Amino acid sequence: MLAPSLRVIPAALICAAIPFLCSVPAAGEVPTTTPFLKKAFANDFLIGTALANENLSDGEKFLLLSNFTNITPENCFKPMALEAREGCLNFNQADRLAAFAAANGLKVNAHTLVWHQSCPPWFFSEGGQPASKTTVLKNLREYIAAVTSHFRGKVESWDVVNEAISDGPEFLKKSPWLDALGEDYLAEAFRAAHLGDPDAKLYYNDYQIEQPKKRLKVLRLIRDLKEKGVRIDGIGIQGHWKLDHVPLKDIEDSLEAFHAEGVDVAITELDLDVVPRKHSSADVGITETSGDDPYASGCPVEILKREAEQYGQLFALLRKHRDKIKRVTFWGLHDGQSWLNRWPRKRTNHPLLFGRDLSPKPALNAVLNAGTSSDH
Ligand code: XIL
Repeated sequence: MLAPSLRVIPAALICAAIPFLCSVPAAGEVPTTTPFLKKAFANDFLIGTALANENLSDGEKFLLLSNFTNITPENCFKPMALEAREGCLNFNQADRLAAFAAANGLKVNAHTLVWHQSCPPWFFSEGGQPASKTTVLKNLREYIAAVTSHFRGKVESWDVVNEAISDGPEFLKKSPWLDALGEDYLAEAFRAAHLGDPDAKLYYNDYQIEQPKKRLKVLRLIRDLKEKGVRIDGIGIQGHWKLDHVPLKDIEDSLEAFHAEGVDVAITELDLDVVPRKHSSADVGITETSGDDPYASGCPVEILKREAEQYGQLFALLRKHRDKIKRVTFWGLHDGQSWLNRWPRKRTNHPLLFGRDLSPKPALNAVLNAGTSSDH
């Protein structure tokens, strides 16, 4: 096979000049004529994707570098990946991904320091017994200090705490962190992250915080932290939404509300689940033991069309609020890489802008159209 640069560049140059006349490559081919997301939104916000590792095919690498400015490590910056056993920090995979990003001019949005779903038990035990509050706090501080200082200067932002807010009536979700340290664990985590990497932007990240009830709790969190003199720079709205249920009004209200608190806002994990699932939340702890796999042999044209319309509406809204949005990150480069093929059950999903064969889907065009107007 020819090197991607030889196959790709002439078509890519043509595309840059006339992006909306580009053709869709045949299934299985390297997409030589993909238009460019990062160009379409260059005046609006950064465009990112989650990436598990740097082992990409030529076609994937081309998609990545031509469309995206930022990456979020999908799993390899999580505590379970970095320090599964106490005292055994392992930065190998994370360092390889960070080096790949640096070599290719991509910014890294690191994810995540504190998340009850990726939380090795050693944080909470001491000599086989539940650890004292003092020890848990020491473990939290030391872990964050080690990790943030290791990546200092190499990451643009940290999701300091992920998914701490409750889906129920209470403020915070029940978790070992809350049990051990009480509500103050969030402030402690942000303080430690600030000390370890004062230059990285510090985010709180969560799902469904566009919904009014969780939105109010995020506002409370921002105010609590600020009252304590603790720095928080941004809020990440994950954006794991479902086809036919993209909450445009809630998203708009939340962008305005978070922006009014003086923090940056990012959509951090965008995808549009097209295969029905029972729950709306993106809680990885909720799984399904049975269910259909209706689009295993391909996504019906009618679904692709609805997906395109809804992605188009979403990006028109995001673009309208571009003064409030720092970045929009998709949770995966193409449908074949999406976590929604595995969660909440095994199924064949089609939630992103590029198909398994890397070809642009109708949704890509809809998004690009939303990103293009007379002021570009
Ligand atoms: C997911 C990854 O995509 C999966 O590969 C992994 O098995 C579980 O975690 N919200 C988050 C992300 O904040 O960290 C999750 O990522 C998806 C939901």
